[in-house]
Amino acid sequence: MCGIVGYVGEKNATPIIIDGLQRLEYRGYDSAGVAVFQEGEIRLRRDVGKLNNLRTRLAADPITGGIGIGHTRWATHGVPAEHNAHPHISMDGEFVVVHNGIVENYLELRDELQAEGVEFKSETDTEVIVQLVARFAANGAQGDLTEATRKAVSYLRGAHAIVVMSKRQPDRLVAVRIGNAGGVALGLGDGENFIASDIPAILEQTRKMIFLETRQMATVWADHVDVQTLDGKTLHPEIHDVAWDPVSAAKGEYKHFMQKEIFEQARSITDTIRGRVDFEHETVILGDLDLTPQQAQDIQRIVTVACGTSYYSGLVGKFYIENLARVNVEVDYGSEYRYRNPILNDKTAVLAITQSGETVDTLAAMEEARDKGAQLWSIVNAIGSQAMRIADGYITMNAGPEIGVASTKAFTSSIVDQYLLALYLGQQRGTLPEALRRQHVHDLARLPDLVGRVLDRSAEVEALAHKLYQYTDFLYLGRGINYPIALEGALKLKEISYIHAEGYPAGEMKHGPIALIDEHMPVLAIALKDSVYDKMISQIEQAKARGGIVIAIATEGDTFIGTKADHVLYIPQAPEMLTPILAVIPLQLLAYSVAVARGADVDQPRNLAKSVTVE
Ligand code: AGP
Repeated sequence: MCGIVGYVGEKNATPIIIDGLQRLEYRGYDSAGVAVFQEGEIRLRRDVGKLNNLRTRLAADPITGGIGIGHTRWATHGVPAEHNAHPHISMDGEFVVVHNGIVENYLELRDELQAEGVEFKSETDTEVIVQLVARFAANGAQGDLTEATRKAVSYLRGAHAIVVMSKRQPDRLVAVRIGNAGGVALGLGDGENFIASDIPAILEQTRKMIFLETRQMATVWADHVDVQTLDGKTLHPEIHDVAWDPVSAAKGEYKHFMQKEIFEQARSITDTIRGRVDFEHETVILGDLDLTPQQAQDIQRIVTVACGTSYYSGLVGKFYIENLARVNVEVDYGSEYRYRNPILNDKTAVLAITQSGETVDTLAAMEEARDKGAQLWSIVNAIGSQAMRIADGYITMNAGPEIGVASTKAFTSSIVDQYLLALYLGQQRGTLPEALRRQHVHDLARLPDLVGRVLDRSAEVEALAHKLYQYTDFLYLGRGINYPIALEGALKLKEISYIHAEGYPAGEMKHGPIALIDEHMPVLAIALKDSVYDKMISQIEQAKARGGIVIAIATEGDTFIGTKADHVLYIPQAPEMLTPILAVIPLQLLAYSVAVARGADVDQPRNLAKSVTVE
């Protein structure tokens, strides 16, 4: 949930940056910092904890200048500490950077730079960026900040939002967006310009904004901005006039909260992973669950209780926990659990998954579990909610506020939480070989970038939605780890477009739903290049033989599937365990675009509530 603010102009940058960071406080952070160019030097102030600590430090030791960058950090790599807080400065003291995202290959880059004699002052992944900028400024870019940054970012794997400032060219900032690690908004003022990761940070200053797309960069002076692709092509981006009212401002460049939340997922997933993984030692830390190896080994069974989308998330989590931690998992509807006198004891952990933390049925299931002596864990998004308070241990989703009634980013974050839980249990129980754990941690680091790549194909989904929005019945099929995604895809469509949609495990199609298939029923099949690919192809063939219109969610590079399905939506190749998180995104986008095409109220669909507090 890191925040970025930058300023270049005539005024003193420091209070403008601190004020902007303050407006992003709601996102959460553990340290903050600001860098300003003053009297020929880059001056840096950083502190852990709240912005007030930084303010106190600045009051005692002020920095003043017309250009600067600031950041609120929520730790991914390295503990919350002053030396790990952003901005990070290069060894030569000439460049300074703030960054949102994860540098997936930071260890190899750090080794490479260390071999060249670079000394690192932090444990962060971010520091490699500024050291690379310094390397290329000295070698190849002739000191030019834009060119040095362009070269540096070409070495980074992952999704990033970056702002860099230079002592050699103290009249400009360079901002880069790669993938969806958060936005980069350029705020255009009169003789001054602003940069922010989130609109609210600079909305008091200006309403005129440019939003960088992925693989774009901007050089920002006080009186003009130059936007280019990373390949150096000059662009003339649209200047948006952002509305003042808080609701429109919060939606930013998006038409609906649901759309915004879908597009936020690379960032929300980064926030879910943040602080839970030690990337250097490739271990998982779940501080609010905190089980000793013995406590973890004593658990004989996990019962997941949840409703709706959270229930489907639990079905994916079952795959993770059973595979990685070798604990038996049952997944139950919160609304049914207390009506069947469940068998529980203190060797059972009941895991409640709830975005709101206030769903009455899930809370009732938790109470039932408590009464019967089970351990109580929860996965929640709403901090301080009942499900968090009454649990013995919890894992927060850290997805940020989810306003759209149809859950999207909380779904993917809750799946990531269960992935972390499975790795943590496997690690504590000793059921997960070290090499495998390291591989999974490595895979997790790639996830935000993979999510960004799915989102980059959103236009294809929108185009398909225009062909499909008038159909009235849909069948969604998936198998293995992606069968819950078929259920979730169908739920999304029915919730916001009011189209009848059924989700099924694909193997069940022939046991009933196949009777429904004809040319009026689109069949959406999740048919990835994974362990159940051949089975899914045969389901597609059966659907086609009955005249169904088949839309496949497939793996990039799979051309064969185009000979079987009528339409194909691709997701990148990825380890099988990550695919549910990727495959659900085109389904969220499809539901969204179909609902918009039908003129439905996307954010507040009829008859539904965000938090279901009645039975
Ligand atoms: C999701 O799109 C739905 N609005 C609904 O199914 C929701 O997931 C369910 O009510 C559970 O909510 P919770 O996660 O807040 O407990």
